[in-house]
Amino acid sequence: MSHYQRTYQPSVKHPEAFWSEQIKRVPWYTPPTTILSYDEQQHARWYGDGELNICYAAIDHHVAQGRGEQPAIFWDSPVTQSKQTITYQELRDRIACFAGGLERLGVTKGDRVIIYMPMVPEALIAMYACARLGAVHSVVFGGFASHELAVRIEDAEPKVVVMASCGIEVDKVLPYKPIVEQAIAQSSFKPEACVVYQRDLHRAVLGPDDYDWDQLITDAPFVDCVPVKATDPLYILYTSGTTGKPKGVIRDTGGYAVALAYSMEVIYALNPGDVMFTASDVGWVVGHSYIVYAPLLRGCTTVIYEGKPVKTPDAGSFWRLIDEYKVKSFFTAPTAFRAIKKEDPDARLLDCYNISSLQHLYVAGERLDPPTFHWLEGLLDVPVIDHWWQTETGWPIAANLPGIEAVPVKAGSATYPVPGFNVQILDRDGERAGPMQQGSVVIKQPMPPGCLAGIWRDPQRFHSAYMAAFPGYYLTGDGGYFDEDGYLFIMGRTDDVINVAGHRLSTGEMEEVVGGHPAVAECAVIGIHDELKGQLPIGLVIPKDTFDGNDVTLEAELIALVRDRIGPVACFKQVLVVSRLPKTRSGKILRKLLRNIADGKTYGIPSTIDDPTSLEDVYVAMCERSVGAADQAKPIDP
Ligand code: COA
Ligand code: AMP
Repeated sequence: MSHYQRTYQPSVKHPEAFWSEQIKRVPWYTPPTTILSYDEQQHARWYGDGELNICYAAIDHHVAQGRGEQPAIFWDSPVTQSKQTITYQELRDRIACFAGGLERLGVTKGDRVIIYMPMVPEALIAMYACARLGAVHSVVFGGFASHELAVRIEDAEPKVVVMASCGIEVDKVLPYKPIVEQAIAQSSFKPEACVVYQRDLHRAVLGPDDYDWDQLITDAPFVDCVPVKATDPLYILYTSGTTGKPKGVIRDTGGYAVALAYSMEVIYALNPGDVMFTASDVGWVVGHSYIVYAPLLRGCTTVIYEGKPVKTPDAGSFWRLIDEYKVKSFFTAPTAFRAIKKEDPDARLLDCYNISSLQHLYVAGERLDPPTFHWLEGLLDVPVIDHWWQTETGWPIAANLPGIEAVPVKAGSATYPVPGFNVQILDRDGERAGPMQQGSVVIKQPMPPGCLAGIWRDPQRFHSAYMAAFPGYYLTGDGGYFDEDGYLFIMGRTDDVINVAGHRLSTGEMEEVVGGHPAVAECAVIGIHDELKGQLPIGLVIPKDTFDGNDVTLEAELIALVRDRIGPVACFKQVLVVSRLPKTRSGKILRKLLRNIADGKTYGIPSTIDDPTSLEDVYVAMCERSVGAADQAKPIDP
């Protein structure tokens, strides 16, 4: 039996014993004696009677252990031409003070706080300050528009919103205050206060319920960590589902801390004192887990980078950061490398830097396409590790595991299931698929520690979205297969979720916005292939009979509407006005078929379609108007 199997098999056969062994990875106020229990819906709960505080475990504990002078954060912001190094001790003090400021505003255990901030150390400080108080943070990505923020405020009911005065996108300064003000105006729930971290590039004008960050922390008391139960929520992170309303994924505290600490050793092969650089954003799960919490739980230094892989100033930024901070593990999304490759195909800028500190390169967020994999493999002397996970799981489900046993990489595969995740492939009837047979990728219960504890205020949705399809299994929403050697290949979503530049988006949500335009009779939004961003949304629209306007104007209005409601991150820039959409006899739009057209798959027109010409209409329109679709699509065999 391989070393991997000797670890993996006990983890899925005897999960309770396996995860009982791992509790010593984090400091507890009260170590758990109950390892695994089940709630009333039969969902796994980990370490039910344990008590801890993740801020203590990740910060104060290291100061107490003598790491106070070690850098906890390297902040690097080419867009403001600033850099900062923050030691563990300084970070602890700044967190404890900001927690004191929040406490002054009445924030206490269990209260929610929404954080709307760019990649500045204060974002991490605000998150940990919430954790210190036992409050629940919900970070919202800066690329979302005010409506999306409003939806989250409505659902999470935060006592306080913490924001920066602006974000910076390459050379554009984006004021945040108007976005937050509009969101609060749109929400029926009103937070009691806003804390504004003022940035020099744009200072916000404060209103009567606003507090300046610096003033709030002046003379604020140093607040100690509040013990919380392992099962108490640490954060809510909203993610796209198949419907318009995002799902508030609830993360618990104890299971998450243990899982992250475990992952730092077995997946990321990092020791205390090492440097981890994750080029993502604190608004995504990757940022929560591998910029904010995991590196510090392990006593490492985390790099917070406020910039892009290209243009800030050039395609050598990542190499510079690896060199400058002696990064040992680097993690980003494949799309970032496609952007670098486009600008610097021969990676000439790599020659300007010494990246010999790098030991492993990790990618996730979308499938690592083989051309990008081979480009990276040819460029670097280190293993390129594609690993698969999702907001719901909080940490990787499948990966190559250098901390246990590194195995040869196969292009297009996320390698093996991570210990704790009993990954299986089921066919439509719920039968286990054999090697090379594609099906739904599911995780057999119990999910390991760290995975979602529920959907905020919607237990029913938790059940219907994930647990109902195959009783006893968590439905990941991805399709894939195991090959003959047990390597897992994730082939893409089986639902209406798309992945644009490593960002997860709901086409259902975009359809709701587009369908809300008064001139639109029917619409479908699907993802089409894009060389750089992996996928891009495209709207197919049938105007109402009464519509007598101009198609080009309608298209522009719909693009502006989606940008205004969801935000620039949706990258909704293509609309096709068509006269028909393919439908079933019962009148349902055949979205899967549309996706197949977009993916360039060969097929015959199904007999279930009443009007086969409608399919051709859409096909021709897409090929004419969409470069991605035209490149990909194969001729239809009627
Ligand atoms: N705040 C405000 N606007 C933002 C934003 C933010 N935090 N992030 C992105 N946007 C805007 C962009 O400015 C752009 O606006 P535009 O339409 O006016 O040009 C739009 O949203 C689309 O952004 P994006 O898709 O990110 O395109 P980009 O050209 O700015 O950058 C990449 C492309 C590939 C370089 C970038 O998406 C990237 O680095 N992706 C990595 C993804 C990632 O970290 N995923 C997490 C999992 S690892
Ligand atoms: P998010 O919840 O935003 O992290 O997005 C999760 C989704 O991104 C998954 O369900 C997959 O569809 C996709 N994804 C993430 N990582 C990978 C990967 N390594 N390979 C293939 N798809 C991935």
